[in-house]
Amino acid sequence: MSTLKRVESIVVLFFLTAIAATLLVGPRGSTTVLAQQQTSFTPVVEEPFAVVMKRDKEAKPRVMAEHQRLLEDRYDLSPHVDPNVTMTRGKPISVGPTARLKGVTWEQLGRMSPEEIREKGLFPYLPLPHVNHPVGGMVFPQCEVKVLPRLERFDMDFDLPEQFLPEFPPAIFLTTRADLGDGSKGQLVTNENFYDLFNGILNPKQLDGLRLLLTQFPQQQFNATADRKTERPDGMRGVACFDCHVNGHTSGAAHLAGDTRPQENRRRIDTPSLRGVNIQRLFGSQRALRTVEDFTEFEQRAAYFDGDPLLATKKGLNILDRGSQVHDMAEFQELLDFPPAPKLNLLGRLDRSKSTESEIRGEELFFGKAQCAACHTPPFYTDNLMHDIKVERFYKSRMEGGMMITAQGPIKTFPLRGIRESPPYLHDGRLLTLEDSVEFFNLVLQLDLAARDKKDLVAFLRVL
Ligand code: HEC
Ligand code: HEC
Repeated sequence: MSTLKRVESIVVLFFLTAIAATLLVGPRGSTTVLAQQQTSFTPVVEEPFAVVMKRDKEAKPRVMAEHQRLLEDRYDLSPHVDPNVTMTRGKPISVGPTARLKGVTWEQLGRMSPEEIREKGLFPYLPLPHVNHPVGGMVFPQCEVKVLPRLERFDMDFDLPEQFLPEFPPAIFLTTRADLGDGSKGQLVTNENFYDLFNGILNPKQLDGLRLLLTQFPQQQFNATADRKTERPDGMRGVACFDCHVNGHTSGAAHLAGDTRPQENRRRIDTPSLRGVNIQRLFGSQRALRTVEDFTEFEQRAAYFDGDPLLATKKGLNILDRGSQVHDMAEFQELLDFPPAPKLNLLGRLDRSKSTESEIRGEELFFGKAQCAACHTPPFYTDNLMHDIKVERFYKSRMEGGMMITAQGPIKTFPLRGIRESPPYLHDGRLLTLEDSVEFFNLVLQLDLAARDKKDLVAFLRVL
C-alpha cells in the first residue's frame, strides 16, 4: 500500500470510528442522535425489553437527580399553604411566589425592561422541561400512581411535589345535574364503579361515553411491545383518558406536545381540566382543533403516539368510530361543569355583597390597570382565542434540561373559572401558584404592580 493510500485509509478509519462513537455514546441515548439528524421519525427498531429496562432503571436515579437540581435551582419547593382557602374537597392551596430570584427583588425586576432582564439572565419563569425531555411521554403524579400502580414508569417519576397539584381525586360537577353537587361522591371514577355511580343520572349514550373515557387503550409508554416503559401486565393494556383527566378534571399528569420537531423543541404540557370544556371553542393549547369530537379522536390517533402513525400502528392504534364512540365520549365531556363560584353573579362578576375589600380591589385591577380582562373575558374568563405573549423577550435561547428554551408561539387563553383548583399554571405548569401567575403577567405585560395590588389580584383569582 502506498503511503498516500495508507494515510487515506487511516483518515477514513478515524472518521468511521468518530461517527460510530457519536452514535453509540450520545449523552442521552438514541434520541440525541435523532435530534442531531433532525429527523421527524422515531426509530421503530426495538431493543430487547429486558436490556432497555435494566439500562433505564440504572439511569433513573441520575435522571431524577439532574431534573431535581434544575427544579431546586428555579423554585423554592417547600410547602406553604393557606389552610383557609381550599379546593372543593378540602385540599388547601399553595401560596407563592415560589420562583427564586437571582439577587433582585420582585419590585426591582418589575421595573426592568425585557431587554435588561434578558441581558442579565434574571427571568424567573423559563419554559419548564419534561422530567426527562429527550425521552418524554406521559408521566403520572405519585399520589395517582399510589392508587393506580399500573401508571408507574420504570424510567422516571413525576417531578412536582403534591402541594402544587390539583386535589386527588377531584369532584365532578355535571351541567345536567347541578343539584347533585359532587357526582363522584368523593371517589375516583373507574371502569369498576362508574355504572353504580352514574346509572340513573346519565342517559345511556353518555354512560357509554364515560365507559370509553375510563377504558385503557395502548399508548406510547403503556403498551404490549418491547418498546414500553411499564413492567406491569395491567400497564401494558394502555391508559384511559381519565387517567390524566381524572374525574373529568386533571391529575396534573404531564406530557410533551406532539406537534413540534426536533424533540428538544417540543413543549412540556400539563393536562388541562375538562371542566367547562363545553364553553370553549379551541381545543389543545396550540393546535386550535375546533371541536371536542376532533380532539377526542386526535388524542388516541396522534397524541398517544407522539404524532407518529408508524409507531401507532405498531403499538396498537385504537380507531374510534366517529358516529358512535367519539360522539358518546364528547357528549359526556360536554357535561363537565366548572366548580361552583358562590361569589360570582350571572355575568361572572363579583357579587360585592359577598366579597372582601381585597377581592373587590382585585376585580378592579383585573378589569383596569392589570388589563387581564383584555384576554380573560367574563363570564368564563377566556376570549376563546390564541395569543402570542412573546415571553422569549425575557430570555436568550439555549438548551436547558434537554430542552431548547426558545420562542413558544401562540397559545390559547385558558379559562380562569375554577383556576384555584388546577395548579400548576400555564401550558407547561411552570407557574406553581397563583402568586407566581400574577408575578409572571406583571412582567409579561410590564404592569409594575405594587405588592398590595398583586395580593388583591390573587384574592380575586381565588374566587373565580
Ligand atoms: C397525558 C395524559 C392524557 C391522556 C391520557 C389524555 N389527555 Fe387529553 N389532554 C392532555 C393534555 C396534556 C392536553 C393539552 C394538549 C395541548 O395543550 O396540546 C389535553 C387536552 C385535551 C382536550 C382539550 C382541552 C382544552 O382545554 O383544550 C380534550 C377535549 C381532551 N384532552 C380529551 C381527551 C380524551 C377524550 C382522551 C382520551 C381519548 C384524553 N384527552 C387523554 C393529557 C391527556
Ligand atoms: C394578551 C392576552 C392576555 C392577557 C392580557 C392576560 N392573559 Fe392570562 N393567559 C393568556 C394566555 C394566552 C394564557 C396561556 C399561556 C400559556 O399557557 O403559555 C394565559 C394563562 C393564564 C393563566 C394560567 C391558566 C392555566 O390554566 O394554566 C393565569 C392564571 C392567567 N393567565 C392570569 C392572568 C392575569 C392575572 C392577567 C392579568 C395580570 C392575565 N392573565 C393577562 C393571555 C392573557
